[in-house]
Amino acid sequence: MADATPQVFTPAPSAQSAQSLDSLFYQPADAFFRGHAHTALTYDDVTLATLFSDVLPRDAQLDTLLADNLPLRVPIVSADMDTVTEAEMAIALARCGGLGLIHCNMPERTQLSEVSRVKNNVHGLIADPIKASPDQSIGELLAYLEEKAFTFRTFPVVDKDGHLLGLLPGQVVRPRHANKKVFEVMTPRAMAPAISDTELGADPIECADRFFSEHVGTHKLLVVDAQDRLRGLFTLSDVERIRQEQNAQMKPSRDTKFRLLCGASLAPSRTAAGKLDGERILGHVSGLVERGVDVVAISTAHGHSTGVGDAVRLVRNAFKDLTIIAGNVTSGSGVEYLAECGANVVKVGQGPGSICTTRIVAGVGIPQLTALYVAKQAAARLGVTVLADGGITKSGDAVKALTLADAVVCGGLLAGCPEAPGSVMEINGKLYKQYRGMGSLAAMNAGSAARYGHAAKDSARKVAAEGIEALKELSPKLDQVVFQLAGGIQSGMGYLGARTLSELRSKARYIRVTPAGQRESAPHDVIEVKTGG
Ligand code: XMP
Repeated sequence: MADATPQVFTPAPSAQSAQSLDSLFYQPADAFFRGHAHTALTYDDVTLATLFSDVLPRDAQLDTLLADNLPLRVPIVSADMDTVTEAEMAIALARCGGLGLIHCNMPERTQLSEVSRVKNNVHGLIADPIKASPDQSIGELLAYLEEKAFTFRTFPVVDKDGHLLGLLPGQVVRPRHANKKVFEVMTPRAMAPAISDTELGADPIECADRFFSEHVGTHKLLVVDAQDRLRGLFTLSDVERIRQEQNAQMKPSRDTKFRLLCGASLAPSRTAAGKLDGERILGHVSGLVERGVDVVAISTAHGHSTGVGDAVRLVRNAFKDLTIIAGNVTSGSGVEYLAECGANVVKVGQGPGSICTTRIVAGVGIPQLTALYVAKQAAARLGVTVLADGGITKSGDAVKALTLADAVVCGGLLAGCPEAPGSVMEINGKLYKQYRGMGSLAAMNAGSAARYGHAAKDSARKVAAEGIEALKELSPKLDQVVFQLAGGIQSGMGYLGARTLSELRSKARYIRVTPAGQRESAPHDVIEVKTGG
């Protein structure tokens, strides 16, 4: 017969405060990941505990410093993949405060001009404007404009040594004046709107803005040096756009010359004899540096390897101040190796990508959160930063990644944007864009074989592809996608009371979720009529 004595409820030891009970369940990174040392975890395997907060999501700051010259306003980098990042994506993402890595599955010359397109996109001071010479006829100038498809019509006029002679206003650059010489119709030097470069001060845009307010109807401002040589040109529309950006919610990521930030990837190419092709790699990097690239990425499937290490060392020795991203790795020793070779930023991710088959084909790779924790330990010790590359499918993943990494690299999340390369196709009334792994046969045939450790000629032979070719549904414009992603990250930070990403890293508390918990985490038991995004 069962004992009928009523059970006496014994409270948990009263010494156990609410906080220590919390910490028993919700653990900081070290305790949590070391406690799961034999299990590889990824984003959906864990959830973050909420903490007391006095931070509103909109006040959470998303700035991150990937390297001294890479301050991003949002911690989002677009993948260097041929269906994700060319100039249009890099421009759009830098305008939202992130960074685009232009892929290298294209002729070197084409990649250089893609970088130039980003770096010259919006000018504060146009340092080298198109000029007219005094003896040119208006007809010659018009023919030149047509040939180059330039749409602007106002030009500074300079002599052969670059001294400013005047300004040719747009209203005289017309066919009816074709026979006139520039010097006959230009506004002479004494009346041309110009200031000395020494007057620009610490905030040239503010100075130009003031000038345009004080000189109603003036749309151009010329800048000259002490010898009256032309040093540049401000236009009213550029200045107004930059002023608006300064007040906008999403601020562009810019270099010290007010140009958009831009990265480009390069392959650790080999000679026919199988040796690292130093001459080709260094020639490629100098071209990129000349175009103003802010960071080069040596992206491969296996960064902890002689080929990648040698390529990083080669570039580091030749370009002491250049910021280098290298990868990919998933171990502390991989981070250590690349950092010692000279990388400033290390990409972490082997097999998490939405189009990756590395884990299936090669049986290797580590689920992303564990890989990030292990990599971050070494990175913090060595003073390099970490990019969480691949597997980000929703903003919640990005929040979890950013508890360990300095920024996230996104491929699939951005590949459906109109700014991604490739055309839109319609299938059964729905619109799609192509998205393919750089280790897919098609991408390797187009040039990315070196990234997967194969020689270019191998890709025509039988090599195991480590990526698939896929489609992404056409998504809204990139700024909308980034806005949603950044908003989600800010929400996460609000729940954790983290005002900055570094507070997010130090405050994060993790707990595992079961498959039932995962089901509970997504919409369930309803018929969805409208998605959250
Ligand atoms: P998401 O998940 O954002 O991942 O689409 C993008 C990242 O995936 C990596 N990548 C590949 N990995 N085989 C792989 O195993 C591939 O063919 C492949 N292509 C890209 C890359 O790191 C990218 O940033």
